[in-house]
Amino acid sequence: MSQKYHIITYGCQMNLHESEKMAGILRHMGYEECSSTQEADVIVFNTCCIRENAENHAFGNIGALKKLKKEKPGLIIAVGGCMTQEKGKTDVLKKKFPFIDVMFGTLNLEDLETLINRKRNQKKKVIEVLEKEREIIEFTDAYRTSYPNAWVNIMYGCNNFCSYCIVPYVRGRERSRKAEDIITEVRSLIEEGYKEITLLGQNVNSYNSDGKGGMTFAELLDAVASIDGKFRVRFMTSHPKDFNEDVVKVMEKHRKICRLVHLPVQSGSDRILQAMNRRYTSGKYLAEVEMLRKRIPEAELTTDIIVGFPGETEEDYLATEALVKQVDFASAFTFVYSPRQGTKAAEMADRIPEEIQKDRIMRLVELVNSLTRKKSEKYVGKTVEILCEGYDEKKGMYLGRDEFGRMGYFESESDALGEFVTLKIVRANGISLYGERVDVPIKED
Ligand code: 5AD
Ligand code: SF4
Repeated sequence: MSQKYHIITYGCQMNLHESEKMAGILRHMGYEECSSTQEADVIVFNTCCIRENAENHAFGNIGALKKLKKEKPGLIIAVGGCMTQEKGKTDVLKKKFPFIDVMFGTLNLEDLETLINRKRNQKKKVIEVLEKEREIIEFTDAYRTSYPNAWVNIMYGCNNFCSYCIVPYVRGRERSRKAEDIITEVRSLIEEGYKEITLLGQNVNSYNSDGKGGMTFAELLDAVASIDGKFRVRFMTSHPKDFNEDVVKVMEKHRKICRLVHLPVQSGSDRILQAMNRRYTSGKYLAEVEMLRKRIPEAELTTDIIVGFPGETEEDYLATEALVKQVDFASAFTFVYSPRQGTKAAEMADRIPEEIQKDRIMRLVELVNSLTRKKSEKYVGKTVEILCEGYDEKKGMYLGRDEFGRMGYFESESDALGEFVTLKIVRANGISLYGERVDVPIKED
């Protein structure tokens, strides 16, 4: 009987894709996927450390395996991802959870096979976390689980050092993949039948900052969108300090590129933006939004916002609300500031009390939801193209997203997974839309 693996992923799209790479490695070793920790012979935690609650979540789930490991001593428990990459964290994990067998980081995930094999041959735990990034290892054997979307890394790491953010410490400096490797990967994904390509990087606009890519992000986007076939192109994340008209011109040129830009603003207050070391002002941000909408009037934006950053006054918070209203975001990811050890902001005085943070996040979420709901209502009666990505058993309906990331539900006689489907929207409920297929004749009984 074959051995089984189970991977538990926390965090962002970057991590989701890295779990796909880990799955590729484990399958190559002969392991098969299983859906629970109980059945697994190898359990991998792909952790995140961006906010304290992401860490606590992983801690809780790792701790819960103590009993299982006792019952099944042959089980291999491996912990990788961003958390192990934090300074001193492997020691903390070792103390807290002595039953962990393997620890590795974001910078050496390609070594998973070697590390697991080493563990199989020795009693001692295997801990290998690199301090410095190495040359990119090209990896095309990911076991993808997000069909019809495929994640494609264009770069790794981050050079920005926003004062609140731990990412540069756990993912190293920016390294760009060679454009030709990216284009070859996308071409083969399209040939395999993927219908949506999401180009991934912490700051895609600074692609090629190390000169290793061979072209700018705008040129890369142009090259990817020039590949033949019906598919969508998305990219994330853009940084407002580097987002530029060249990219928007490429968006204008290719209908394949979704008219949605994820442009994290973080705050609407210039004082806070400066303390965050974001290197733009709210004025520059708004000018970029105007430039985008001038060239592509239907363009939508999504964003990330942090409330309760050290020193944030009510006035600063209200500046964020004002900016949110002015931009009229399609949606926003909103976070309460979480101090991360080793970052500049963690040393800042003037922490904001929890009640104030909670009050601000609740007001902001309400504001963002009201904008999203208003946009949903405008959808009713419109015809939109959805890329079907799954089936909701509870609702008994297929679901998929339009180019702006809006979820649409519909009934279908035939299996619609991976198809572009045209829907007439008949109802909106919060962020979800409900539609009727208008691209296939309705079967009459
Ligand atoms: N506290 C709260 N939110 C954070 N983010 C990054 N670091 C922190 C932190 N320390 C948010 C930012 C970023 C998103 C991925 O996570 O908004 O854009
Ligand atoms: Fe992703 Fe950042 Fe979390 Fe790492 S720390 S998983 S890069 S969000």
